[in-house]
Amino acid sequence: MRIFLDTANINQIKQAAKLGVVSGVTTNPSLVSKERAADYEAIIEEICSIIPGPISAEVLVEGVQETIEQARRISAWAPNVVIKIPATAEGLEATTALAKEDIKVNFTLCFSPNQALLGALAGAAYVSVFVGRLDDAGHDGIQVVNDTVDIFRNYKELHTEVIAASIRHPLHCVAAAKGGAHIATIPFNVLMQMIRHPFTDVGINRFLADWQGASKKD
Ligand code: E4P
Repeated sequence: MRIFLDTANINQIKQAAKLGVVSGVTTNPSLVSKERAADYEAIIEEICSIIPGPISAEVLVEGVQETIEQARRISAWAPNVVIKIPATAEGLEATTALAKEDIKVNFTLCFSPNQALLGALAGAAYVSVFVGRLDDAGHDGIQVVNDTVDIFRNYKELHTEVIAASIRHPLHCVAAAKGGAHIATIPFNVLMQMIRHPFTDVGINRFLADWQGASKKD
């Protein structure tokens, strides 16, 4: 499973890039609006220059034609931009048109395997299943990821990748990886939680203390 960072924060993206384990970034209008003066194009271009992998930027309009036109404009910002389009009937129509133009789409806000399947059939490069938001509503978000992965595996002609999104904690990452999600897109704090373990800290401290104790004996 690959890891994308789910943020529009440049400092977090720069820090995470140094770790060498992040291969893409997903943003959404809420995440971008938290950042400086919300210059959408400048933020996305900067992210695209830091991480060479797929960078998702969401359309900010509704309506098929409006979505297609804005998606074309956003896709010209950088070669690695992926257009996030919400999982609606209009979104499907726009995705179908954009896929024919070789514009990569991340079919987002998927809450059911059916939405994800339709996104894949429309030619989306990615479908994003919102695990945390499903859990928050009393559903089993990981089950929706698992079902989507199983369905896609049944049909070799589907090349769409499943993104486990709306990840809230490291156990979501483990479950998504066990289920075969291609990608988990995670907030920076969850990435840090994945690498930290108190036993590792205790182990390092003990090794260093033993080493220093041994050096004093010389
Ligand atoms: C996915 O691409 C979305 O940006 C994101 O995962 C939404 O997560 P949230 O439910 O924490 O807002």
